[in-house]
Amino acid sequence: MEIRFDGQVAIVTGGSKGIGRATALALAANGAAVVIADIARDDAEAVADEVRALGVDALAMQTDVADPAACAAMATATQDRFGRIDILVNNAGISRPMPSAEMPADVWQSIIGINLSGVFFCSQAVGRVMLRQARGAIISLASISGPLGFPMRAPYCAAKAGVIALTKVLACEWAASNIRVNAVAPGYVETDLVRANVARGVIDEPSLRRRTPLGRLGQPDEIATAILLLASDATGYVTGETLLVDGGWSAYGGW
Ligand SMILES: NC(=O)c1ccc[n+]([C@@H]2O[C@H](COP(=O)([O-])OP(=O)(O)OC[C@H]3O[C@@H](n4cnc5c(N)ncnc54)[C@H](O)[C@@H]3O)[C@@H](O)[C@H]2O)c1
Repeated sequence: MEIRFDGQVAIVTGGSKGIGRATALALAANGAAVVIADIARDDAEAVADEVRALGVDALAMQTDVADPAACAAMATATQDRFGRIDILVNNAGISRPMPSAEMPADVWQSIIGINLSGVFFCSQAVGRVMLRQARGAIISLASISGPLGFPMRAPYCAAKAGVIALTKVLACEWAASNIRVNAVAPGYVETDLVRANVARGVIDEPSLRRRTPLGRLGQPDEIATAILLLASDATGYVTGETLLVDGGWSAYGGW
């Protein structure tokens, strides 16, 4: 089966790097026009150029997903430029592991603001367009940190558990309007986010490999493939689901 998105329009938040960039390029390679909505303006422009080089249209938009007005502006600009929004990938996210007892309130608030509230604000803004179209697919990045408790990651885990819950709620609210809402929950993937935590000494890479049944970290492309599957009409009867893409991490019960 071939998965194509010709004539469709996708928004990828946090599309400048890592999983978001891989997803933007994979959508473009399969025919979608892509909006790169990222807080990092220059990086977003660079990925938009890469998308255009694949022969489809692209728009870079500086967007802070924690700001509801910015999310509304992102949806409006996309609608104005392309006339429709078929796919939203809520990918923007940050991580800042530290002991809960020492966590300043602003660190809690910024992780929840980007990783959870940002998913809601973008889904709401784009969902309003999709409701008018009576068509759409939303895929949010959860994590194995949603169902599992990782020490030093209180707001990150709480946000990702919230994304899984939000995915179910929006799927149920918007199903009658032909909008599917799903999530992908990666294990550890080789991106700057993980590399930064390895550099800070809060992640030990050899231990990760040993703990993962497939014996390696995931690649951004492998997460992008799962996102494209959920974005495609090939999964037209799947909604409210969170797909684990974790090399078997969550299945493992040994020690
Ligand atoms: N890398 C992993 O192992 C892993 C595992 C599970 C889940 N995830 C999730 O996948 C998503 C992408 O992770 P990644 O590893 O590719 O991250 P990354 O750090 O490589 O890239 C994140 C992108 O989000 C952008 N961003 C940050 N704050 C933003 C904001 N306020 N508004 C808009 N854009 C913003 C950054 O500029 C960057 O381009 C995140 O939601 C993350 O929690 C990652």
